[in-house]
Amino acid sequence: MKNLIEQPAWLALNRHYQEIATNHMRDAFASEQNRFVRFSIKHEEILLDYSRNRITDLTMRLLLDLAESVNIKEKINDLFAGNPINTTEKRPVLHTALRDYSSNPVFIDHENITEKIATARAQLFRFADEIHTGKRRGSTGKPFQHIVNIGIGGSFLGPMMCANALLDYAVSNLKFHFISTIDPDHLHDVLSAIDPETTLFIVSSKSFSTMETMTNTKQVWSWLAGKLGADAPRKHTVAVTASKEKALTFGIPDERIFTFWDWVGGRYSIWSAIGLPLILMIGANQFSEFLEGAYEIDKHFQQTPLKSNIPVILALLAIWYTNFFNTSTQAIIPYSHRLRYLVPYIQQMEMESNGKSVAVNGDRISYTTGSIIFGEEGCNGQHSFHQLLHQGRHLIPVDFILVAKPHHKTSQSQHDLLLASALSQAHALMQGKTAKEARQELKEAAGSQIHDEILNLHLAIDGNKPSNIILLDQLNPRNLGALLAIYEHKIFVQGAIWNINSFDQWGVELGKKTLPVILEQMKGIGKDSFLDHSTMSLINHCKKIKDKS
Ligand code: F6P
Repeated sequence: MKNLIEQPAWLALNRHYQEIATNHMRDAFASEQNRFVRFSIKHEEILLDYSRNRITDLTMRLLLDLAESVNIKEKINDLFAGNPINTTEKRPVLHTALRDYSSNPVFIDHENITEKIATARAQLFRFADEIHTGKRRGSTGKPFQHIVNIGIGGSFLGPMMCANALLDYAVSNLKFHFISTIDPDHLHDVLSAIDPETTLFIVSSKSFSTMETMTNTKQVWSWLAGKLGADAPRKHTVAVTASKEKALTFGIPDERIFTFWDWVGGRYSIWSAIGLPLILMIGANQFSEFLEGAYEIDKHFQQTPLKSNIPVILALLAIWYTNFFNTSTQAIIPYSHRLRYLVPYIQQMEMESNGKSVAVNGDRISYTTGSIIFGEEGCNGQHSFHQLLHQGRHLIPVDFILVAKPHHKTSQSQHDLLLASALSQAHALMQGKTAKEARQELKEAAGSQIHDEILNLHLAIDGNKPSNIILLDQLNPRNLGALLAIYEHKIFVQGAIWNINSFDQWGVELGKKTLPVILEQMKGIGKDSFLDHSTMSLINHCKKIKDKS
């Protein structure tokens, strides 16, 4: 098979890009009255408006040809069927099975996994109920009031983001805390905010060997033992892992271990037992709605024609900019305080999944994959980095994520202001302001005598900056589940077109291997090492400062 960039569909897009690269969206909107109708999709309670993109009908047709040329439908089927698409780790990728509400079996090695998924979920729901009703208590008999999740990466970002997003749906008074990094200040801040007698720790780690998580857990265990006695750590801890043996060896009792499976990737694991903090926060029924929302999108992704398939369209637009406009960055800007942690969540999902340089068949690839994801909750971004979006030389496509209906009805008018802020940013990015318009504005503001040509040029804004609007009717468990599934599948489609494995992450291993060598040097027990001159100098500098104090 030809290299992707030599495929007819790719070459056609290249030619098309040359033809339309300088077209301005302002002109397209002026001449096409039905642009929104042509370039928007509504599915259940989610609306995607992608009309503010540098596209024509032909662009979309050619992008869809590209998707078809890589047999995207077949690849989608491979995902849901449990074929081993994580080729380097030789396993299927089946987070979708965790939210599959059809009665169809899902097989891995001839075993139907749906039953064990249901059993594991029922166990989690039972546990949450026992915490909520006070049936399960701490070592001194007090009911739990604090939940501390110890985990990092996918074992942190999903639960933390969702717990913040769905705060309004909490069914208990439990307070949630998250420890992820090994900065002792992080641990200190959490431990000083809780009462050991009423705290349950959830050690979340797929591998149960991640350095940060294990280090923090050991510290927490000695803290608990010091406060409440040697028996307390076990009574105040549960583990969530795909490596049960390691959790048992660590000392977590069997009945306090909730398992999931190696076919659930860390950054796709919120639907599994990793979602335990969310289950504890919103309860079993609402967690099921969260899963159902994602399942709705799974069906949409599998069944809807490519041209009206939300994840497919988002992926194709991202490819259009990454590979033809040569953009490297994508901004995610939720105009929702509750969704503020969506940015780091999508950052891990996209950058760990699609930051690859080798194709599935082992060939090095010559085109860009993945995007640098950054962003910030809406309004804050306007007063920091939007200047660069509007007038900088980088082209940065934006996903604006909006919620139409506020949770608290009393705040409707302020919520309108929030929505209007987002829409005005998207409009301004698209429309820009010509030098002529700037001149006119200046004249009107300061009187017709003032004529400052240089200032006109500074006030002019190119516009033509693309953005998508993803508008949820409201933020609730179902719509959040749907939103996350949309991004999961978008990232899948991008990876499938780029012909990479979106489900491994070998790059993160190298730093992990170097760490013990550096640690030995810091302790002064390291022998000759492969470390570079800069690293050794910095180690010595830190040693000197430490010795002085
Ligand atoms: O950063 C690498 C990584 O393996 C992520 O993919 C994962 O989400 C994170 O570390 C945490 O891993 P674990 O759940 O095994 O502790």
